[in-house]
Amino acid sequence: MLEQLKDLHTQALDELNKVNNPRELELWRVRHLGKKSSLTKILRSLAALPLEERRKGGAQANEIKRALESSLEEKEKLLQEALLTSPLESQRLDITLPGRPLPAGRLHPTTQILKEICDVFKNMGFQVIEGPDVEWDYYNFEALNIPQHHPARDMFATLWIDAGMGEKARLLRTHTSPMQIRLMERERPPIRAIVPGRAYRYEATDATHESMFYQVEGLAVDKGITLADLKGTLFDFCRCIFGEEREVRFRCDYFPFVEPGVEVAIGCSACDGAGCRLCGYSGWIEILGAGMVHPDVLARVDIDPKLYSGFAFGLGVERIPMLRYGIDDIRLFYSNDLRFLRQF
Ligand code: DAH
Repeated sequence: MLEQLKDLHTQALDELNKVNNPRELELWRVRHLGKKSSLTKILRSLAALPLEERRKGGAQANEIKRALESSLEEKEKLLQEALLTSPLESQRLDITLPGRPLPAGRLHPTTQILKEICDVFKNMGFQVIEGPDVEWDYYNFEALNIPQHHPARDMFATLWIDAGMGEKARLLRTHTSPMQIRLMERERPPIRAIVPGRAYRYEATDATHESMFYQVEGLAVDKGITLADLKGTLFDFCRCIFGEEREVRFRCDYFPFVEPGVEVAIGCSACDGAGCRLCGYSGWIEILGAGMVHPDVLARVDIDPKLYSGFAFGLGVERIPMLRYGIDDIRLFYSNDLRFLRQF
């Protein structure tokens, strides 16, 4: 019987080694430790044996039973651990592998320069405001001293939404100047604001003309504002953007909504004034129009021109990176050629 018990023990351990999951383990338990197992049968049969054999056999059988029980427990623990670690093993991350490169995005050159322009004016105490691209005839023209049939309308080839409807017609704003009126309608002086935004013109495009482009409008209204304030502000701006060295030209121009009107041009950086395609062979690039807000414009928004005065300016945004980087075609900005855009 002792022999039989030994065999039983080895066989049970052999089988236990092959057990791979909890279900198999349970079957093993029933087979080797259950009520119908050989071991249980042997234990039951002991009663019929003579005392000496019963004692020996009983001790041996019980020892084997305990050994099997503790092997079972151990195996159970092992299986439990495996259950936890095996998914971790199979899904192990190799954190030393190089990552998948994320293509780095970048800001559009126009966005970059707009931010730079806004920062310069913010530092001078201007607030930054935006307005609608779809505008009324009234704000785009009428309120800016450009009534119906005024020849100055020819300065702005207009994209109409409702053509021929007078003041009530909608259009795509041809400049950011209508925001001067909107601003003065809802705020009282002192006003100091800039308005970055898109403008649209119905134009055959070429190297210096696009049908959509950006402007930054500026407006300052208060008591005692003079042309000297305008000049100081704009020269300061030019120095911030183009550096101390670059030449700035300041001279008369005409815009219906200012009196006097001026324009600012910068010495062409592409040819250093010698003349090239970028500057239209003049050596200068006009970057903005400006002037003292016309008294009639102030009166129209109920600001008394006898008490208050103001200056305004409208800046062509793309002109600045064109000058700075010697870009000789404005159409490059919005034709989405990544080879161009990635350079900035
Ligand atoms: N709005 C004008 C244009 O698009 C530029 C301009 C000129 C704006 C004079 C102004 C100004 O504010 O005072 O051509």
